[in-house]
Amino acid sequence: MLKVGIDLISFYTSSQYLDLNSLAEARGIDPQKFSVGIGQKQMCIATTDEDPITMGANAAAKILADCDKSSIQTVLFCTESSVDQSKAGGIFIHKLLDLPSNCRVVELKQACHSATSAVQLACGLVTRHPEKSVLIIASDIAHYDLNSPGESTQGCGAVALLIKADPRILVVEPATGCYTIDSVDFWRPNYSKTPIVIGKKSTLTYIKSAKECWKNLTEESNISFDEISAFCYHLPFSKIAEKAHTKVAKVGKSLKSDDELRSQLEPSLRYNQKIGNSYTASTYISFCSLLDNSLDLTNQKIGFFAFGSGSVGEFYYGTIVEGYKNVLKTKEHQAMFEAQTEISFETYLELHEFRHKELSEDCEFSQNTKGLFRLAAIKDQHRVYAKCEK
Ligand code: HMG
Repeated sequence: MLKVGIDLISFYTSSQYLDLNSLAEARGIDPQKFSVGIGQKQMCIATTDEDPITMGANAAAKILADCDKSSIQTVLFCTESSVDQSKAGGIFIHKLLDLPSNCRVVELKQACHSATSAVQLACGLVTRHPEKSVLIIASDIAHYDLNSPGESTQGCGAVALLIKADPRILVVEPATGCYTIDSVDFWRPNYSKTPIVIGKKSTLTYIKSAKECWKNLTEESNISFDEISAFCYHLPFSKIAEKAHTKVAKVGKSLKSDDELRSQLEPSLRYNQKIGNSYTASTYISFCSLLDNSLDLTNQKIGFFAFGSGSVGEFYYGTIVEGYKNVLKTKEHQAMFEAQTEISFETYLELHEFRHKELSEDCEFSQNTKGLFRLAAIKDQHRVYAKCEK
């Protein structure tokens, strides 16, 4: 059978972050609620000239140097912080990255889940046209109200994946387990810049979804929990994955100890603990974290749990390909974190207010991002993107 899966992967996040200790101090909250209670350290905050388009273009630029651009027949752009209700955000990225014109570009949405739908759709497309590849870009800014329970779970990031036949990183196995249920716990009406959240209910829905998806995966295949070496979960915050993982292990009748279960997850949590929630990008930034922070995963099976509020969950697994380390972007990822700077609580408040603005009037933005691309202006109500000047 044709092997299809992830050939290349890389991510981008902003060059600036707010330390959650600063947020705790400003809000009069015990810092351990964030470091221990939800398991987070920092949250990355986009600059004024960054948005899901620029972040997505930055993530994709890192992998395009290593692939044959002319084989990309489809770009699937996944986001829930879209910049337009009609035009696919991926079209801006298609232009910035000079992708072939004989290409379809579409935007997918189902809260944080859509990048996983994109992986499944892309595997189907490549199975039909094995000489073609699909570029998936998932990019989001998680922006909650000030002083709300969700405030500590903000963040931003983008990930890009190239899906191909005979992939160099991960073969995606065909079996998958899904669970959809109409739940009213996290949604963002068109008039609102921030989501409406019933936080506790959303966490219970996530955990139930993980268990139901696992059950469905085992109905669809012969995989057993203990055959999987490591797991990558959607990470609104890392503690929720630890909780869900213990429950899924029970459903999967795992013989592993609590310490073994923790170590199956730990390497995948590290990047998101510094980035915060990146919605659609989160599950695959977890995968980058696992790949970059593990010794050798060759031939091992990796489980993926994606969850999007509303809600859709999906559990699937893949097998790591021999030689995968040769195409990882570990050094670039580490350099990106090393170049980051901390912002003060006051700067965070200013940037938060900026994200609330309706960008409908013509204006120009000064260059603040350290990425390759920026939002340069709004002109005639259209967003103008540009390459950054060095
Ligand atoms: P909260 O309600 O303020 O927090 O916000 P809490 O009181 O439940 O405390 C959190 C944990 O910290 C608790 O642990 C406390 O005990 C502990 P738990 O009981 O859950 O094990 N704690 C402490 N630990 C140590 N020292 C202390 C201390 N104080 C408390 N001093 C909440 C939490 C998740 C509700 C909030 O952050 C929120 O609303 N976030 C946004 C929604 C969210 O992230 N939901 C997650 C599931 S839904 C999802 O993943 C989808 C999503 O990504 C969106 C999409 O799909 O598009 C969000």
